[in-house]
Order: sequence, then structure tokens, then C-alpha cells
Amino acid sequence: MMTQNWDELRETVLHCTACKLCETRQNVVFGAGNPHSQIMLIGEGPGQHEDEEGEPFVGRSGQLMDKMLDYIGLSREKNIFIGNMVKCRPPQNRDPERDEVEACIGYLRNQVALINPKIIVCIGRIAAQRLIDPDYKVTKQHGEWILKNGVWMTGTFHPAALLRNPNNKPAAMQDFFSLREKIKELGIEL
Ligand code: URA
Ligand code: SF4
Repeated sequence: MMTQNWDELRETVLHCTACKLCETRQNVVFGAGNPHSQIMLIGEGPGQHEDEEGEPFVGRSGQLMDKMLDYIGLSREKNIFIGNMVKCRPPQNRDPERDEVEACIGYLRNQVALINPKIIVCIGRIAAQRLIDPDYKVTKQHGEWILKNGVWMTGTFHPAALLRNPNNKPAAMQDFFSLREKIKELGIEL
């Protein structure tokens, strides 16, 4: 069921028990940033720090992402909204399972419907495979743009993957520069 109201959506999500991740979470992570922005970044799901704080991307990955955003003049407070495929932490940071993603995706769709973004950036494989292409390969397809239902979509490396493999950092930074270009091209006011 879709709602027209952002706060109502948040309340619903904060109390959700639609999948088994509700049993092990500390906090639901609804997402953060500016819901009036035209740019959404979608990660995988909360990790330990996110679960503890109820905020997305606040651990080491998040710090790296904030740094990369800062490079292109974006900040989560001002001009983007950051969400996740699942709003509750998968135990031991395992990948979210298919049934969990499917249980949660309606909330993401509702967020997208209310925000009505011009750009969606998939952060990592889990988001890109569900939102862009089931066979999406980050190493091959990162930084490619596709127009889907009127929204420009792209994917890039997950910052956790960059922390494990810093060799991909320059390629990831190229994706962020490409995002900056797309913002300009579309005339999005920041
Ligand atoms: N990784 C994600 O995919 N999302 C977060 O919110 C934090 C880490
Ligand atoms: Fe509900 Fe999503 Fe949390 Fe599962 S992950 S309990 S569907 S909010």
C-alpha cells in the first residue's frame, strides 16, 4: 500500500515486521538526507553502526562515501537522499536474501514515488541487480547510465568493496564525476 505522506511512510517503516530482519535489528534505518532532493543513492542495507544509530552509511563505508560526495560538491544534508534496499540490518552483514528485499522494496518504491528523483545511483551490486539489471556486473557496468521510467540510473562500487580493494577507488571517483556531469546536464538545481 502506497502512502502520499512522507511522515506516515516513515512511521510505517519504523514499525515494520514484514520480514525476519525485524527480529534481530536494533533500529530501522529509514534513510537520510533531503527528501526534496532530485538525487537518490541506494545502498544495500544497514551494517552494525547504522543499526545502532538508525542512520544510513554512518560507519567506515559511509565516511568514505561522504568524502567522495564532498569531492563533487554534494552533501547528504543538503542535496541527496540516501536509502537502502532493506531497512533493517542483515545479521553478520550477510547479503539481504531475496524474500527480505521483496518484503522491503515497496517502501523504497514509495520513497521514490514521493521524492520523484531525476537520478538514482545504485551503491553496489545488490541495489544495481535489483534496480537496473539482474545480471549487473559492477566491475564492468559501473558508471554506465540508463534511462528507466524517466529516471536516470547508474551503479557504482560499494564503499565497503573500495575499502577492501582500494585499487578501484579511482574508477569509483570517475563514477562520481560522471554523476556531477549528469546533474549539470539535467539542469538539476542543488
Ligand atoms: N552499507 C550499506 O549498503 N548501507 C548502509 O547504510 C551502510 C553500509
Ligand atoms: Fe520491514 Fe524492510 Fe525491516 Fe524487513 S527489512 S522488517 S521489510 S523494514
